[in-house]
Amino acid sequence: MSDFTSNFWSIYVAGITIIGIIGCGLLLWITSRKKVEATADNTTGHVWDEDLTEMNNPMPRWWMWLFVLTIVFGFGYLVAYPGLGTFKGQLGWTQLGEYQQEVEKANTELQPLYARFASMTTEDMAKDPAAMAIGERLFMNNCAQCHGSDARGSKGFPSLADGDWLHGGAPDDIRKTIHDGRVGVMPPMAAAVGSPEDVRNVTHYVLSLSGSPHDSLRASLGKSKFAACAACHGMDGKGNAALGAPNLTDDIWLHGWGEAAITAMINNGKTNEMPAQAGKLTDAQINVLTAYVWGLSHKAGASR
Ligand code: HEC
Ligand code: HEC
Repeated sequence: MSDFTSNFWSIYVAGITIIGIIGCGLLLWITSRKKVEATADNTTGHVWDEDLTEMNNPMPRWWMWLFVLTIVFGFGYLVAYPGLGTFKGQLGWTQLGEYQQEVEKANTELQPLYARFASMTTEDMAKDPAAMAIGERLFMNNCAQCHGSDARGSKGFPSLADGDWLHGGAPDDIRKTIHDGRVGVMPPMAAAVGSPEDVRNVTHYVLSLSGSPHDSLRASLGKSKFAACAACHGMDGKGNAALGAPNLTDDIWLHGWGEAAITAMINNGKTNEMPAQAGKLTDAQINVLTAYVWGLSHKAGASR
């Protein structure tokens, strides 16, 4: 409701709700006042199918009181809980509050489970089947929608299983990535490179760095233009984890392989975000996830 710019709809909905309840009460009152004249044998005088008559009995008292109680309860509920438009209710109950309480309760209950991992190194945790089982479940619930259930990623979403890192693959780097999130920014570079022809030449130079098929004449012409890229990707093109600038000399492509993809990257740039998980996951959970992610590209040491 709070998404509306005026409170018209709030008042409209609250009005319908209250008028509805009052209407129910009125209906009850009006119908209970009106007495149908009964005949001597206590029937309404209506007869169907020759001998089928209708008795004139009032509704049972207890039923009437239940009706009244429901109406009173309805008003009480609307005072206590949010039910009238944007009115928040006297108890201050919210869906989000209840959810957060449940999360807090679950986290407290899980604390002893994670306590054992707190003193372990990432390397040891990666060898611990219990830790990895928890890590896998956390990954499936929180990370797989972007990185894939096998953690191999897809276009724009990096593989976490290949040992190639944008932001560093040491346990502390991975922990920081998950905790704080990361934003990779490649600015549009066409203007800094020069003409479209220059952009094409740099593209071929980039292709040459990974030994991909390229035009070697264009690559040699583009080499000097790569200076504009070196600030982030390094003179040798091997990238810079501090800036999240990928290694361009390997054959791993986050945003697509080939001339068209690289030219698009230079012309348009790209902003890519890994969302911070600190608000969603506890430090203990992030700790286990760090080990799980680290373990994906260090399988040899794992006992699984
Ligand atoms: C909404 C999509 C999304 C979700 C959910 C998500 N990630 Fe990411 N993640 C990304 C993107 C996009 C990047 C790449 C950021 C960049 O280009 O700099 C990334 C990068 C990373 C990296 C750095 C990879 C590298 O090469 O340095 C790690 C580690 C990572 N994510 C782990 C996780 C974990 C663990 C979770 C679950 C808690 C998770 N991610 C959830 C989108 C997501
Ligand atoms: C300000 C730093 C910066 C500069 C300058 C820069 N880049 Fe980038 N580049 C990045 C970052 C960061 C990414 C990763 C974006 C992401 O997180 O998805 C990237 C990604 C790329 C990619 C995609 C790699 C892949 O795996 O798909 C290519 C290709 C690329 N850059 C080429 C260049 C070229 C060529 C230049 C020079 C004309 C250049 N970049 C200049 C920061 C930079």
